[in-house]
Amino acid sequence: MSKIHAAITGVQGYVPDYVLTNKELETMVDTNDEWITTRTGIQERHILKGKDKGSSVMAIEAVKGLLEKTNTKPEEIELVICATVTPDMLFPDTANIIAHAVGIKEAYCFDISAACSGFLYALTTGAQFIASGMHKKVIVVGADKMSSIVDYQDRTTCILFGDGAGAVMLEPSEEYGHIDSIHQCDGAGEQYLNQKAGGSRRPASIETVTSGQHFIYQNGRPVFKAAVSGMSDVVKRVMERNDLTKDDISWLVPHQANHRIIETVARMADFPMERVMINIHRYGNTTAATIPLCLWDYEKQLKKGDNLILTAFGGGFTWGAIYLKWAYDPA
Ligand code: UT7
Repeated sequence: MSKIHAAITGVQGYVPDYVLTNKELETMVDTNDEWITTRTGIQERHILKGKDKGSSVMAIEAVKGLLEKTNTKPEEIELVICATVTPDMLFPDTANIIAHAVGIKEAYCFDISAACSGFLYALTTGAQFIASGMHKKVIVVGADKMSSIVDYQDRTTCILFGDGAGAVMLEPSEEYGHIDSIHQCDGAGEQYLNQKAGGSRRPASIETVTSGQHFIYQNGRPVFKAAVSGMSDVVKRVMERNDLTKDDISWLVPHQANHRIIETVARMADFPMERVMINIHRYGNTTAATIPLCLWDYEKQLKKGDNLILTAFGGGFTWGAIYLKWAYDPA
C-alpha cells in the first residue's frame, strides 16, 4: 500500500483593515522610512484595532473563508491546531474559540506555541494525524495579534511586527503533500527573544506592567545571526536527504522577519530570489501567520506537483524546514 501524505487542499488568509505605514511610525518613535525599508524591507503592516479583539478574530475569518473555498462543512473537520504566541487568553486555547465560532463541533482543538516557527510545528503535527490514517480533514491555522505585545515606544521592535492569520486544510493524498520535516530548538535563545511576564514565572503585577515586561524583548543581532544559520542549515539538510537540487524546487517559502535574512538564507542555500516568496513589505512579521499568508498571496502561481520548501526561525529558539508537494492548480 502506498504511503498517505497530508496534502494542503486549500489556503486562506486574513489581515485587518488598518494599515500602519512607516510614515505613521515616524510620528510615534525616532525612526524613518529609509531605515526601516533598507534594514528590514517592511513598508507597512496591518493592525487589529478595537477593544476585546484577540487573535481569534482574524483566525475565524481565515477559517471561515477556508471552509467556504474548499466546500467543507464545519462538521467534517476532525482537528483544529492553532499556532500562536498571542492567544486570546492563556486558557482556553484559541483553537477552541475559533472552532466554536465557525460551528466546528465534531473536532478536538489545541494550540501550539513555537513563536515564528509555530506554523511549521503545527503543520508537521497536523500532517502526522493524516499520515497515520487517524483523520481525514485537519485545519492548521497560524494567527498572531503582535500589536497586543509590542511596545510602541521601542523603535527596535515596533517597526517589525504586524497582525494577521492564515489557515490551511490538510487531507490525505497518495501523490502530493507533506514529505519531510526537520525541526530544532535551542532553549539558550530565551535570553535574546522573549516576553518576560504574564506566565507562571512572573505573573502579572503592577511592577511587571510598569516596567514593560509584558512586551516583546528582542536583541536583534544575535537573533539575526541564528536565524540565518539555522534556516540555511535546515533548508540544505532537508534538500540533501530528499536528493533535491535547487532546480527541483519551485518555491522557497521563508518566514518573513527581515528581507535581509531572507536574501542571505536564499544565497547560502544557492537559491534564486525569483523563486522565493516575499510579502514582508506589506505585512511585516506576523509571527505564526507569515508562511500561510505567503501561500495565500502566491496561491495563483502554484501548480499541482510543485516542490516547496518552507522554513522558519523564531523565539525559543525554534526553527525548521518542511518539504512538500503542492496538491492543486490555481482555480
Ligand atoms: O521573527 C522572529 C525572529 N526575529 C528576527 O529574525 C529578527 C532578527 N533581527 C533583525 O531583523 C535585525 O537585527 C533588526 C531589524 C531587529 C535590527 O537591524 P540591525 O541591522 O541588526 O540594527 P541594530 O540593532 O544593529 O541597530 C543599528 C542602529 C543602532 O544605532 P547605533 O547604536 O548604531 O547608533 C540602533 O539604535 O540602528 C538603530 N536603530 C534604529 N534606527 C532607526 C534601531 N532601530 C531603529 C529604528 N529606526 N527603528
